[in-house]
Amino acid sequence: MFKRFRYRRINEATRLQYRETFLRKSDFIWPVFIVQGTGRKEEIPSMTDVFRYSIDTLLDEIRLLVPQGLSSLLLFGVPEHKGIEQVFDANGIVQSAVKAIKREFAELEVITDVCLCSYTADGHCHIGDNDATCEILAKIAVSHAGAGADIVAPSDMMDGRVYFINKALRENNLSKVKIMSYAAKYASNFYGPFRSAADCAPKSGDRTNYQMDFANAREAMEEIAADIDEGATQIMIKPALSYLDIIAKARARFSMPIVAYNVSGEYQMLKSAVDNGTCNPAIIEETLISIKRAGADRIVSYFTPYILQRLNK
Ligand code: PBG
Repeated sequence: MFKRFRYRRINEATRLQYRETFLRKSDFIWPVFIVQGTGRKEEIPSMTDVFRYSIDTLLDEIRLLVPQGLSSLLLFGVPEHKGIEQVFDANGIVQSAVKAIKREFAELEVITDVCLCSYTADGHCHIGDNDATCEILAKIAVSHAGAGADIVAPSDMMDGRVYFINKALRENNLSKVKIMSYAAKYASNFYGPFRSAADCAPKSGDRTNYQMDFANAREAMEEIAADIDEGATQIMIKPALSYLDIIAKARARFSMPIVAYNVSGEYQMLKSAVDNGTCNPAIIEETLISIKRAGADRIVSYFTPYILQRLNK
């Protein structure tokens, strides 16, 4: 005797009856890079088909994508000149973008990256002292929330930043704004393309003394538990693909929404493989499904515009 499975796979209709995991348009959060000025839509050499937008051209893009099902954005500001005073300026790039987007698309979820690395001269996510950095991160979060962001997403990996941000949001009557913490963010080589896109590569050293050691899984659970304790309302695991085990473990342990960040290096590897004909484009759906199958509720991905189009077919 043996068990038969192939009857499930006879055709697409039977495969559908047995399918366990689906991609939905609302699963996707689109990360975007914003620059100063107007009329700018600049190619990013390290990331094929990804652009840096000024606010007006970003709005044009959003006008096209919302009817296709875009429901969420993650904003990264890329300033013209370095200097951390701009990062919490009420009229900074990110704050102005949030206001402009919300004016036209009140329902669109707007998440902002809270970090310093595109603004510091040395390209690091901190100013030397952990707790002093947290004070600045809290100011950034308050400025983003004050501009109308729905969620702030600290990506710096300082200890206690969620505590500081949560406290500051409360003190400023902004406690309805949620905190999506990059709770388990690894010191990954997959961030390479992003660092040229956001001009945030460390000028010296690396980020291994604040981002997590990629050999660690148990510690990720501690990081997540700590952030939940400090007031995070959703947790991010980053990168996604080499960390599916972390997503699965976190899913088994925490009921909090889990977001996985399909980062720039993961994007570009697949994109190159598809563009040069090495792999079938369905590799993209296969990969994104694997992230959901592991247990992520939502996915931050540069493939968002592409996948919305696919899901509308
Ligand atoms: C900055 C930040 C990084 C990413 C998101 N926020 C880079 C880094 O930590 O060096 C990477 C995202 C990606 O690779 O797509 N703190």
